[in-house]
Order: sequence, then C-alpha cells, then structure tokens
Amino acid sequence: MKGNNNLNRRQFFGLVWAASLIALMGQIGRGLLGFVTPVLEEGAFGTVVRAGKVNEFEVGSVSYFRKSRFYLVRLESGFLAMYRKCPHLGCVVPWVEEDSIFNCPCHSSLFTIKGEVIAGPAPRPMDLFPVEIRGDEIFVDTGVVIERSAFDPSQVTPVT
Ligand code: FES
Repeated sequence: MKGNNNLNRRQFFGLVWAASLIALMGQIGRGLLGFVTPVLEEGAFGTVVRAGKVNEFEVGSVSYFRKSRFYLVRLESGFLAMYRKCPHLGCVVPWVEEDSIFNCPCHSSLFTIKGEVIAGPAPRPMDLFPVEIRGDEIFVDTGVVIERSAFDPSQVTPVT
C-alpha cells in the first residue's frame, strides 16, 4: 500500500513536471514566434496601406508612396495604384512630372500615366495593386501584385 502511494506521488509529480515543461515550452515558443514574426509598421510594403482621402488627390496627379513602393494615379475615372518596380528587370521607375511620363533609368522603358509601355524593353505595363475606396478613404493592398498585358478601364477603381 505504501509502495502504491509512493508510486502515485511519483506519478503525480511527474505529471506536474510534464505540465510545467509543456507550459514553459509554450511560453518559449510564443516568445520565439514574436521574435521571428516581423512587426509590420503602418504603410509598410506588403500591407494594406491607407493612402488618404479621395479629395486630397487632383485629377491627373501622380503621388509617390515611397515606403509603400507605389504610385497613386488619380485619373478622371478613378484611381490606379502602380508598383514602382519596372516590369523589365526591376529597377525603380521614377515619375517625371515635367514630361508626364514614367521613365525607367536602367534601360529607358517609358510608360504613360496609366503604366502603358511607350518605348523600351519592358514586356508589359507597370504592375498594379488593388485599390479599395471605403467611404472617402483610399486603401491600397501592396501585398497583391497584379500583372497585366494592357491597360483596361476596368483596372481603374472608380470614385463612388
Ligand atoms: S529595368 Fe526598367 S527598362 Fe530595364
């Protein structure tokens, strides 16, 4: 009987020890996960970015969101968000305001305000990010890159 009690006590402490170990491993695992999971700050590339209010952008304007890596283009019919990365070999494509053109400095691909290829080796128009307008706020999802073969009016997010 005494041996049985000792065994039960030993089993009990074994269970307590195992439970403590599991709890400790859980804590360590959660801590490590927080360590390796990047904390994405607001406006970071790869997140849904709040770009601003609809009336902050004039028709014909091109606004650069450097941290978020896109241009927000305000057309008469609505908005396009274009990835700054050249569809040729990935250089950053600057908007040249005085020429109203995107001009890639690497191999001279030229793009219209809608991202259509005018000249150079770029194989397709500049890529897009989805744009959503909630109320009067514009949101751009920089986690989703949309490739296209040509400009189509359906790519423009209309202002409602
Ligand atoms: S990377 Fe832009 S034209 Fe080559």
